[in-house]
Parts: sequence; structure tokens; C-alpha cells
Amino acid sequence: MSLTEFSAGAPLAQGGHSLPKVTMPALGEMKRQGKPISALTAYDYPTARLIDEAGIDLILVGDSLAMVMLGHENTLAVTVDEMLHHTRAVRRGVRRALVVADMPFGSYHGAVSEGVANAVRFIKEAAAEAVKIEGPRVELVRALVESEIPVVGHLGLTPQSVHRMGGYRVQARSIDAVLQLQADAFALAAAGAGAIVLEGIPREAAAAITAALPIPTIGIGAGPDCDGQILVLHDLVNLTFAPPAKFVRRYVDASALFRSAVERYREDVEHHAFPSDAESYHLPKAARRLFAIDPDAAAAREDADAVVNPDTVVNIDAREEMNEEMNQG
Ligand code: KIV
Repeated sequence: MSLTEFSAGAPLAQGGHSLPKVTMPALGEMKRQGKPISALTAYDYPTARLIDEAGIDLILVGDSLAMVMLGHENTLAVTVDEMLHHTRAVRRGVRRALVVADMPFGSYHGAVSEGVANAVRFIKEAAAEAVKIEGPRVELVRALVESEIPVVGHLGLTPQSVHRMGGYRVQARSIDAVLQLQADAFALAAAGAGAIVLEGIPREAAAAITAALPIPTIGIGAGPDCDGQILVLHDLVNLTFAPPAKFVRRYVDASALFRSAVERYREDVEHHAFPSDAESYHLPKAARRLFAIDPDAAAAREDADAVVNPDTVVNIDAREEMNEEMNQG
């Protein structure tokens, strides 16, 4: 079975109900109905598939992959081509969730037309269903939406502004800053953004903006009152090699699980305990006798017409018999 094979026709089910494809308008509907939106990052096929099958509504191919997957110090170095590569892999693993591709630093910071051209690549070449951009780039959001590209905005702590912010600091800590953030959120919504990620802001600010905004907010480090929540998958499962931020909840320690599995494997190899006979392929019975390698088979080997080892050659008749049997079986 190929790794990419989905069981034929099986609908994605949660609690026995099949779940319809998530679209950008569906997120708006969830907000209106008061249904929380669940979102996670994914950067590759297996995790995207697991997340999708677990019923998460939105999968973000975040530029956090620069740090989490590629080992960079911040998100700034990742390129459009690298993001496309990961978005394609994620897309192949997802059937239900909305797949949003993060536009990397530099791909939309110049002319609006350049931002649109780069966003088109994510839709056309990687089958993303929306793009996410950081900051109050109202003109660009309008142009993207006019180009039929759904947009998720991202305000508050925007990691691509790390140098301007002087580090990853909680934003909107004064009344003026909250009012500015609120104005930015409204401007993005008016320009056509379908949802907005609110990152690293006080709970009260996120709650006020969420209550007033006509489109969904998806929070990360923004408290529980947003319309949805997003986390970096690798934070959730402890695969980041760094102390977690205050807002991260670790649901499993995958580092410990992986480490222990890999150490056990190494020990098994070193002690000749892996692979076992049951984990090996075998010749058909008759031929096996000729190549007997274990003590139990040694007796059979003595009976054999010929023995194969570095000093002996299988006699021609035995080899022909063996080939015949192997071809039959
Ligand atoms: O790149 C990212 O992971 C993000 C977050 C919102 C999760 O932008």
C-alpha cells in the first residue's frame, strides 16, 4: 500500500458523523454559530494527515517551520520555494481542513503586485486554499481578495517583525495600542480578510476585538475568548527543544517517546536483537535448507546435496530445483 493512499471512499468521521470540507466562509459561519475553531500548524504529509483525521478545522503551513523544521533562529530565512515544498506535502495529506499557507518574510513586503504574484503561487502550485500575511496590510488584502485568494490576517505579536519589536514581546499592552490593534483588525476585515490570527496580546484585548469583529479571530497566546485557537503542533507534542511559552499546553512528550524508541532500536541492533527471524523474508523451504544459517537448520544443512557458504558452490541440479520452487511459490 502506498503511503499516500486514503481508504477508499471512507468519510472523515468524528463521533460517527461525517464532517464537511472546511472553507473560509464556513469559518465565518462557525463564528456566527458560536462554534470554536480548532487550528494547528503542520509542515509535512504525515502530521497533516493525522491532524486532519483528528478533525482539526484549519491547518496552517506556518513559517514557524523555519525554526521548527529547518532549525533557523527565527522565521525570517524561509523562502517561498521552501514554503511551497512543505505546503504541497501538507495538501496531499488533507481532505477536510482548510489549508492556509503562510506567506514568508519578504514575499509580500514590497509592491502589492509582487505580493499577489507570490500568493498566486501558493494557490496554483501548492493547492493552498488561503494565505496568511502578517500586519495591517490593508491594500494587499484587498488586492488578494480581488484576485480570488482568501486571506487570513495576523496581528499583535507578528514574528516576522522580531527585529522591529526587539524580540518576541507581548503586544497591545496600553489602551492606545489596543485601540490601534482593534482599528487594524477592522480595516483588515473591511478589506476582505476571512479571519485574523491574534498572537501574543492580553486576553482582555483579544476578547474585546473578538466580540466586535464580524470575522473570526484565532488566538495564540491571546486567551480563551477568541473564536478559535491555534498552536504550533511541535509545541503541543514537545518536539521543539525549547522551554514552552506560557500559552503552550503540552499534550504529550513526543521527544521522550521518540528518544526512547530510537535508543531501544540502537540497543537491539547492537545486541543482534533486531531484526528477528519473524521480521525477515525467507526462501521457500527446499531452498532454505541449502542456505541454512541457524543452529536448528544446521542438521538440515548436513542432509543437503550442497551447501552454500564462501567455500562451497551450490551444485547445478540443486540450484535448478530451488529456482523452480521459488518461481512457483
Ligand atoms: O507560523 C506560525 O506557526 C504562525 C502561528 C500563528 C502559529 O504564524
